[in-house]
Amino acid sequence: MGIDLTKEQKNRVEELLSKMTLTEKIGQMNQESVSIVGGFDVPFEQLIEMMTDGRLSKEEFQNIMATAETDYHEDAIREGKVGSLMVQDPEKCNELQRIAVEETRLGIPLIFGLDVIHGFRSVYPIAIAEAGSFDTDLMEKTAAMAAKESRSAGVAWHFAPMLDVARDARWGRVSEGPGEDPYLGATFARAKVRGLQNDHSSTENYVAACLKHFVGYGACEAGKDYNTVSMANHILYNNYLVPFKAAVEEGAQTAMASFNDLNGVPSTVNKWVLRDILKYSMGLNGFVVSDANAIKECVVHGIAEDEKDAARKSAVAGLDMDMGTEIYINNLESLVNEGKVLVEEIDDACRRILSVKMWLGLFDQPYVSEEAMKRYEEIPEEHKALALKAAEESAVLLKNEGNILPLKKDAKISLVGTLAEKKDEVVGAWAMSWKEKDCVSILDGMKQEFSNVEYYPCGGPEGELSEDEISAACNNGDVIVAVLGETVAMSGEAASRADITLPGKQRKLLEKLIASGKPVVLVLMNGRPLALSWEAENVPVILEGWHLGIQMGNAIAHILSGKKNPEGRLSSSFPAVTGQCPIYYNHPNTGRPAGNFKFTSRYLDAPFTALYPFGYGLSYTSFEYSDPEVSEEKDALDISVKVKNTGEREGVETVQFYMQDVAASIVRPVKELKVFEKVSLKPGEEKTVKVKLFKKNMGFWNNQGKYLLEDGFFRIYAGSDSATENCKEIRVSFDDVERLSDYPMEK
Ligand code: BGC
Repeated sequence: MGIDLTKEQKNRVEELLSKMTLTEKIGQMNQESVSIVGGFDVPFEQLIEMMTDGRLSKEEFQNIMATAETDYHEDAIREGKVGSLMVQDPEKCNELQRIAVEETRLGIPLIFGLDVIHGFRSVYPIAIAEAGSFDTDLMEKTAAMAAKESRSAGVAWHFAPMLDVARDARWGRVSEGPGEDPYLGATFARAKVRGLQNDHSSTENYVAACLKHFVGYGACEAGKDYNTVSMANHILYNNYLVPFKAAVEEGAQTAMASFNDLNGVPSTVNKWVLRDILKYSMGLNGFVVSDANAIKECVVHGIAEDEKDAARKSAVAGLDMDMGTEIYINNLESLVNEGKVLVEEIDDACRRILSVKMWLGLFDQPYVSEEAMKRYEEIPEEHKALALKAAEESAVLLKNEGNILPLKKDAKISLVGTLAEKKDEVVGAWAMSWKEKDCVSILDGMKQEFSNVEYYPCGGPEGELSEDEISAACNNGDVIVAVLGETVAMSGEAASRADITLPGKQRKLLEKLIASGKPVVLVLMNGRPLALSWEAENVPVILEGWHLGIQMGNAIAHILSGKKNPEGRLSSSFPAVTGQCPIYYNHPNTGRPAGNFKFTSRYLDAPFTALYPFGYGLSYTSFEYSDPEVSEEKDALDISVKVKNTGEREGVETVQFYMQDVAASIVRPVKELKVFEKVSLKPGEEKTVKVKLFKKNMGFWNNQGKYLLEDGFFRIYAGSDSATENCKEIRVSFDDVERLSDYPMEK
């Protein structure tokens, strides 16, 4: 799996390896951190982080970059001591590449990597939103678009897709990944890998994916970033590994080790997860990079005595590239000379890195052409159209009491909330290569779509409310559209929140707007599920807009006007209150499932279900389901259900099929998504949706890593979301069905 090199390319890699000195091999394992010097002694990544989380505005960042001196480690490159850098300026990439190719002994090209999480120039919805489109073709196309745009700027390696199954909305990084469900996560993973990697019509069209963060990071205790992770093996195998396994099967080239410890061992030094599971069992042929600074942090983590010890443990564990600490380049040579790290381990890492560079075509075409550099100066219309489609399909209508939506084009609208006018808020966390002129704010989009829109900032996630603006908004409009939520800096890395209700004074603002008696439409901009019990009870309309990318304003306006019938679904359950976190639909069963009775698994002071469950989302039309029909074949269950559009307009329904293994040798989830299909139906139209559930996918890994297919009763559900009770029970036997492979146990 993974790297598909020709015989000749393999020979080139081996020939090169045979000529390399130990220092040169270790050089390949070193990703230098581009540091800013001359008054700004801050590593480049930290600056990026500061810009991403809002501590620096984009302008401040650009000013620093314009005035600061940047250390690109040219001398170290010349000595063959650098394998990779994070740079996104194509001219700079070419300049550094020229040193690597023309001035080093062996001319090995550099690989430039970057966090291109949801788009490069054409930023599309954050992953938690895009996964909710349930549109795999779209997910693939947006990834392919990002690959082309970044490759034309010299970036051949994306630190994406982020595949952490995430079930605790307090964790800020839920925004970066495809949500709570392993199956949807795996579907997203496959689509992203295909989109990033598969168009080999030119080396300018593809990049190497980097699956991250391996593994378990999404289960950080209490949703606090970087926190410890403890989980039983069966939870790891059946949930957290699933998207990664799918991505490796799809041919992903590289992966990133996560910051967290898993049952006591940080991934950076965890041989079991890196070598035994990721490389040998799943079959990742490419290389594994550390997370930023993570090797150094092994000392702070208390898993290594000093930097040298951290280098030894990481290299032995199978961590091939050091991101940004220079610990490998400073220590591995002496460790090899002392016999503490094997030359074979260095060769293996170096071979993997060279092979990915070879696969990327960097040896033959190391530079960005002049033409490519200019190609995306202006975003092409087709990229804008794709970003718009993605945004339109990813917004989720949560509530539409009294069919207030869609609004008439000439409705007298008071648009409220400071987020509505912000172009830099539509892009979400981890977007860094966009231009403000390409971003459509909600205010811009609304003015374009409706003829009678007045904007009153009133207040936002931070700061005070303006009473004057609130009363003007309430007096002057016939309907109020309030754009509220989180700033970009409130989700993403290092952005955990202990209270996930609407931040600041926004609840107060809503109360005042509602008190006016005018209909209020709440449009949310946020990077995580929020606890919306008050809003669900008091606001008639709620549209979850996430951070939808450069076309957000148009997409929201199109949905509000009805030009687009909403079809997005939730890829993560929304709790009613923060105290329900972590909350996810596919939790293991208990002997006392929650119910209206005291001695059951529930809280005294919170509902026992999610406010809005996984898979949920409304449309301007309605759909009706028949009972599912299920029949058994040798290798699969044939499932069918009739779905009818019972409303008055055409709409798209995401038909979801879940399964429950009623009794097994270990406790299984109450429901698991197994298949889904999107269907478009005209008013009154009915379609029979037929799917196959392959029996080999109905099993599970036990705590010993063994994949089991156990005969017995299964419930098969078909419905519009994970709360569906529409099911059929069937006895299934697995005679002669091929099993998935087992996982190795930790030694
Ligand atoms: C993040 C990674 C990211 C890396 C490089 C780290 O802080 O955890 O997701 O790829 O920085 O920017």
